[in-house]
Amino acid sequence: MSVPILDLTALHAPLADQMRDVFNEILTTSQFVLGKHAADFEAALAQACDCKHAIGVSSGTDALIIALMAYDIKAGDEVISSPFTFFATGGSIARVGATPIFVDIDPVTMNLDSELIEEAITPNTKAIMPVHIFGHPANMDRINAIAKKHNLAVIEDNAQSIGAKIGDKQVGSIGDIGCLSFYPTKNLSGCGDAGAVLTNDDTLAEKMTSLRLHGQIGQYQHKIIGGNFRIDALHAAILNIKLPHLPQWNEARRRNAQLYKHKLADMPITLPVELDGYTHVYHQYTIRVDANKRDGLTTALKENGIGFGVFYPTPLHQQECFKYLNQDQGRLPHSEDASKRCISLPVHPLLTEDQIDEVCAVIKGHL
Ligand SMILES: Cc1ncc(COP(=O)(O)O)c(C=O)c1O
Repeated sequence: MSVPILDLTALHAPLADQMRDVFNEILTTSQFVLGKHAADFEAALAQACDCKHAIGVSSGTDALIIALMAYDIKAGDEVISSPFTFFATGGSIARVGATPIFVDIDPVTMNLDSELIEEAITPNTKAIMPVHIFGHPANMDRINAIAKKHNLAVIEDNAQSIGAKIGDKQVGSIGDIGCLSFYPTKNLSGCGDAGAVLTNDDTLAEKMTSLRLHGQIGQYQHKIIGGNFRIDALHAAILNIKLPHLPQWNEARRRNAQLYKHKLADMPITLPVELDGYTHVYHQYTIRVDANKRDGLTTALKENGIGFGVFYPTPLHQQECFKYLNQDQGRLPHSEDASKRCISLPVHPLLTEDQIDEVCAVIKGHL
């Protein structure tokens, strides 16, 4: 039996008629960018994320860029973030001209280690950008407290964790700005690239709304320089159809994670954790195996038709393009260790227990 890492066709099947209807409507009206569908989605998203403002944008990467631009972060500024993440996190910091300062991860959750942040702060530090990696929230209480003490902005990279919580608070709405991605593989995904920024701050919301449209404040009037970061009507409409289903999809991911936890309990594997008081949404179910066993296991998964991912094989401080940072090998040992040992298994909402058994059987047969 083959087990895909994701099955969007099956996930969309019950919603396909609704999706076709909005597609036809948008084709008929030719209202392709922003408009009513974007406004409706933004209102629903703000409510779902318990946040005052949600602003739809062109991608998760652009959401990060807009958030940095909202704080005028630029050359000479530093932003503290995690090296164990998708490239966009560090890439967006560099793209606004600032310097990413990569701080090691906590080996338990694989999120930015909040205990290491203060020693990385300099007079140039302007913001902290935690990533809620794989669906588990970073330690936002501690990060917000540090930011408050040092007068720093907190920009949450919440591309992977929509619906995750700390207590009853939704991540993405706990820092100053939350950045979401709706890339097709995400827990809530559009029909292409899209994203959103979240904030409870009226002034930031107004500025980010302007930034997504070239900094426009009135027709063809520009007080600041922004970009074309608009969300398309079709993405917004599709996302609005899918949004009400997100809680049940996240629940299904959590159920699948529980099944893996029981079935892989006795294996020589580091399983993902869910810390007390935190709600994990398992964007990925990322296990860690001995570094010298990973290639063999990924080969066995491949041979048995089991989808998997290696997120992320090279931490950002070791990427060629960040060599100028001089964050040498060995300086961020937990990030480097995770990169050598991680494998993400299928955990998508439609996975069956039989499929999970199949994945576990291959792992047990190999390790
Ligand atoms: C942690 C993280 N940050 C940012 C992004 C960028 O989002 P997008 O692909 O929508 O630009 C992603 C998406 O893969 C991500 O996983």
